[in-house]
Amino acid sequence: MLRRRWVGASSSTSPKATSHAVAAIASYRKARNRLPGLAVPKSTTPTTKLPLTFPGQLAQSTVRGYATQKQATAYIHGKEPYDVEKVRHDFPILKRIINGKPLAYLDSAATTQKPRDVIDELTRFYNEYNANVHRGVYKISEEATAAYEEARAKIARLINASSPSEIIFVRGTTEAINLVAQSWGRTNIGLGDGIILTEMEHHSNIVPWQLLAKERGAHLKYVGLTDDGHLIHDDFRLHLESGGIKLVTMTHVSNVLGTINPVREYVREAHKQGCPVLVDAAQSVPHIPVDVRDLDCDFLAFSGHKMCGPTGIGVLFAKKTQLEEMPPYHGGGEMIREVHLYESTWKDSPYKFEAGTTNIAGAIGLGKAVDYVSELGLRNIQGHERELTEYAHDRLGKVKGIRIYGPENPGTKAGVISFNLGDVHAHDMATLLDEDGIAVRSGHHCAQPLMERLGVSSTTRASVYVYNNEEEIDRLAESVKRAGRIFKI
Ligand SMILES: Cc1ncc(COP(=O)(O)O)c(C=O)c1O
Repeated sequence: MLRRRWVGASSSTSPKATSHAVAAIASYRKARNRLPGLAVPKSTTPTTKLPLTFPGQLAQSTVRGYATQKQATAYIHGKEPYDVEKVRHDFPILKRIINGKPLAYLDSAATTQKPRDVIDELTRFYNEYNANVHRGVYKISEEATAAYEEARAKIARLINASSPSEIIFVRGTTEAINLVAQSWGRTNIGLGDGIILTEMEHHSNIVPWQLLAKERGAHLKYVGLTDDGHLIHDDFRLHLESGGIKLVTMTHVSNVLGTINPVREYVREAHKQGCPVLVDAAQSVPHIPVDVRDLDCDFLAFSGHKMCGPTGIGVLFAKKTQLEEMPPYHGGGEMIREVHLYESTWKDSPYKFEAGTTNIAGAIGLGKAVDYVSELGLRNIQGHERELTEYAHDRLGKVKGIRIYGPENPGTKAGVISFNLGDVHAHDMATLLDEDGIAVRSGHHCAQPLMERLGVSSTTRASVYVYNNEEEIDRLAESVKRAGRIFKI
């Protein structure tokens, strides 16, 4: 009896805090039921410029044809028409002058800038209600718990998860994928089993599987790419049909090429073979409407810092049925029901996977970021980025000696433009652009196998987000031309 009371007191499950979490989830469910227009009205179906299929490719209906999306997310419409100049005022950092010029931030695929709302909420948390969550029975701990759980509910709503309990807070995409590899992978993957990946993956969706494959004696099988950066569907089919495949894992949007993969169709085919699918959504959730129930993926990972949120916080979505079967990833406080000297029992998801004190401020900041992008509207964001991408292809495409990698039709891709100019090294290019106040990324972008496929060691990458405008693209094109003159291209 004594022991039971001791366990109860120290196991971070104060009845009040737990009931708070339950209340937050219940209020989320109520709010969700109240939300008008969860299904997208037919009249708002975008008139897409895209063909329904690419040669050798499957339909990309999830991101392009909302008419086919039965369960559209609540947050795709935005509150008002898109006004980029208004949006720019929300980002204090854009006032910075770099080398005598206004900062043109074109590296949002690496991390996005933060709007004032998010910065202010982080400050408010530390000034007004900083406390550990789920533990205290006092006012500010309850406030922190409510905000933390509300953030989880907002994320569930953003991606249309069935329940907030399918949302696990992690450090970012990398940790989310490692969690699946270590927990689900070690349970389900054994000697001779296969894992399908693609040649356009970020290192964080390659290395965890290499580690697992080495440990379990499993094989990695890669889907190759066409020259214009699309997945070769026949490769996928051949691998899938070769037998023994236990998992498919692929990026939704390439962080180098901007290719938007037809994940929904790949999931359907994988499921026919009884094979679950993990989606790396680091470059999709911030930019396009993503609906996990429509995609029907088993796991989906993304990072808060790439969608206006703080660093050090990210999300693993997993279907409840998967989470129930998965063992914990980390052990420690908060994730247990009872601990005895030689054995312990676990809480249910999501808490089973959130050991120790989590990034509370980060989760609350991410909740604010979800509010922010939702108010802009994911469809508006996608439209704005598409216009900028088309404009950038047009402007950069006219520069002598340039090569832009990935899909040729900018209307079919996300806002990532990777290029090389003649034999100018990407680092030289990025350094020259920096002289003009333009921030871009150069290097292999954590995608060395993709660089090998492209036959280059590096590229320069400009990537756009909610706050970029055409004037910045003009400056980019002029600055690239200047580099060409300097290097006599
Ligand atoms: C496609 C993709 N996956 C995974 C990651 C890793 O994200 P993080 O470093 O936030 O874990 C990135 C980051 O650039 C990415 O672009």
